Amino acid sequence: MSVAGAPPQTPGAKQTPGAPQQTPGAPQQTPGAPQQTPGAPQQTPGAPLQTGTRVGEAIAGAVTAIAAGGCETPRLDAELLLAHVLGVERERLLSDERLEVRGGAVRAFQLAVRRRAIEREPVAYIVGRRAFRRLQLGVDRRALIPRPESELLVEAALELPAGARVLDVGTGCGAIALALKHERPDLVLSGSDCSSAALDLAAENAARLGLDVRWLHADQLSGVPDEFDAVLANLPYVADAERRSLAPEILRHEPPGALFAGPDGLAAIAALLAQLARRATVAMLALEVGAGQAPAVVRMTQAAGFAHVRRERDLAGIERIVVGEGRRR
Ligand SMILES: C[S@@+](CC[C@H](N)C(=O)[O-])C[C@H]1O[C@@H](n2cnc3c(N)ncnc32)[C@H](O)[C@@H]1O
Repeated sequence: MSVAGAPPQTPGAKQTPGAPQQTPGAPQQTPGAPQQTPGAPQQTPGAPLQTGTRVGEAIAGAVTAIAAGGCETPRLDAELLLAHVLGVERERLLSDERLEVRGGAVRAFQLAVRRRAIEREPVAYIVGRRAFRRLQLGVDRRALIPRPESELLVEAALELPAGARVLDVGTGCGAIALALKHERPDLVLSGSDCSSAALDLAAENAARLGLDVRWLHADQLSGVPDEFDAVLANLPYVADAERRSLAPEILRHEPPGALFAGPDGLAAIAALLAQLARRATVAMLALEVGAGQAPAVVRMTQAAGFAHVRRERDLAGIERIVVGEGRRR
């Protein structure tokens, strides 16, 4: 269970114990920020970019501006934004010395850097794309940006029996349902969400990727057919009191309905488990949880009727998913 003073919980977000709080607008010493070389042109945040500027120089200026905005990875961000604006792979920025920023790309890059540095908008929203498992997903403010640790939910479902019917509750942009359908086309996938805007985005992703997933607009399991063999869920799990400790990227830009879940962050998960206790067809359940929440969620999963409950850690060593199997009748 998350406690005051613990690192902020973000559904699907990597927890970095001891990471410094970012203060919007505060200048930071940031690894990767360029050193000022005597005689080199001053890179002033917001200074106009001339057409025909070489990419190395354009990136250096952007790194300065993004670092001054308080972002943690200014060089990576600048490269991703410029690659997006120029429509090239990031590697080409480093390998093609003749590449220049010119024409409409000048203004587009300045606007993108401004969104990142001043508004602290996540790079994924600016470029409109995020990689998840083997997919490139469209992302925007309608849904949470999928995080790498949520891929554990997909992995947990890869061993399901052929043809199993799977529901991804709180599907957001559809990441978990779509990635699972992509890797296990034999499974019958549905994704549900209480946000119709998120479901629109999920349906757009499904259409673009050519993946067959049914989308259900529902609050938890209300009105959802009682037909599923497995349920996966990355529901909100941030405690309300942790709101102020979230990074500006999350707090200002990601949908609040995807983040917060009551005083201890467990309200949404508890509500789902209460409903699952009455759904006997569900033989397998996998839930993403925040740092410190796994013991409580294990107990609730057992109380909902799952005999075998295990936890799995993410790459940061945090117990990140709780998996229930062996349904008691
Ligand atoms: C943490 S986001 C996860 C999104 C996506 N599954 C992912 O991993 O990227 C939680 C999602 O749950 C949805 N949600 C919140 N409360 C819900 C509820 N009561 N019923 C259904 N969905 C809900 C939100 O709209 C949001 O899309």
